[in-house]
Amino acid sequence: MRFFRLGEERPSVRRFPTTPDGANTDKLWGQIANSPETPMHNKVVGALILASADVLLFIPAPMTCLSVAIQKGENGMDGADTNGLLVDDISMVFKLPGGGSVHALKNVTMNLASGELLSVLGPSGCGKTTLLNIIAGFLAPTEGAVFLNNQQVKGPAAARGMVFQQGALFEWLNVRKNISFGPRMMGKPRKETNEKVEHLLNIVGLGDFGDKPVYQLSGGMQQRVALARCLANDPDVILMDEPLGALDALTREKMQGLVLKLWKETGKTIVLITHSVEEALFLGERLIVMAPRPGRIHREYRLPFAERGLTDSPREIKASPDFIEKREEILSMIWEMEEEIMGGTAT
Ligand SMILES: Nc1ncnc2c1ncn2[C@@H]1O[C@H](COP(=O)(O)OP(=O)(O)OP(=O)(O)O)[C@@H](O)[C@H]1O
Ligand SMILES: [Mg+2]
Repeated sequence: MRFFRLGEERPSVRRFPTTPDGANTDKLWGQIANSPETPMHNKVVGALILASADVLLFIPAPMTCLSVAIQKGENGMDGADTNGLLVDDISMVFKLPGGGSVHALKNVTMNLASGELLSVLGPSGCGKTTLLNIIAGFLAPTEGAVFLNNQQVKGPAAARGMVFQQGALFEWLNVRKNISFGPRMMGKPRKETNEKVEHLLNIVGLGDFGDKPVYQLSGGMQQRVALARCLANDPDVILMDEPLGALDALTREKMQGLVLKLWKETGKTIVLITHSVEEALFLGERLIVMAPRPGRIHREYRLPFAERGLTDSPREIKASPDFIEKREEILSMIWEMEEEIMGGTAT
């Protein structure tokens, strides 16, 4: 890891105000990510910048916590002997400011081959977002480790792109500049970046909207920008936390088709968290159902529907007897867990 003065080595970032000199970046990131005082929006923007560019820049107030320029020399990872994405016996205990703790995850292990699409489902509070944040490198697990392509995850990096539920676009930039943000920060050649952005705009069906400010777009269009922005960094893994959760039913179904199309066209490994049983079944080649308190893997399925969705109509697939049977099985499973939580049987 090394430090640099803003503008010294990366002319493309000069527009941002000046930065203080070096600091311990791991410590700083820890402060940003784990501090209850850091507003979530700041964490999200900080995470995006780190994930996009391996560089943390000074951002003007109100995001004053992001005040040091950082370049992470090792892409946030250390070497290890594993292939694909390996979540190796992860546990996570949050210490609460007033004392006490929350056991968010316990002994979670999973291995995802390159190019697999995994959906993760489970009752509220079972640790889905915590798991994703650990894979992304935004949080360090209390126990265990995550490995991606032989490297241990040690912090956020461009290899692990994140798509949030909503509200994580850079509102002061237009669509094109949102999508090109990562490559620009990484100092990629302008011509190559422009071509990539035009290609991605077309893939996500926003060819005519490149110059629009993002606030002028609908929710579904904004999520398409978020997907394109993530892909522009060419991540090995795309992590999605309820990416379609804020959309109306029709837009959501269309976006599910887009996720499958992107999966097929890019061959990316995808981990998708959703509250929708139907969505988890339709999109997940593999599906993990988590149980709460502490969060753990309850059941795992291998499913044929995502593959079918590449060719068949989503409506037909979702109305097929095998889909309905699985949907009812998983719904009952989650319903029982929710009942248990409401009944106060948790530890
Ligand atoms: N920073 C934190 N500090 C303390 N507890 C936390 C923190 N983040 C999450 N938790 C707790 O960890 C548990 C898991 O939270 P998490 O957000 O991962 O759940 P989730 O499955 O994503 O829930 P939802 O479906 O509602 O989004 C919850 O009990 C939550 O209160
Ligand atoms: Mg969550």
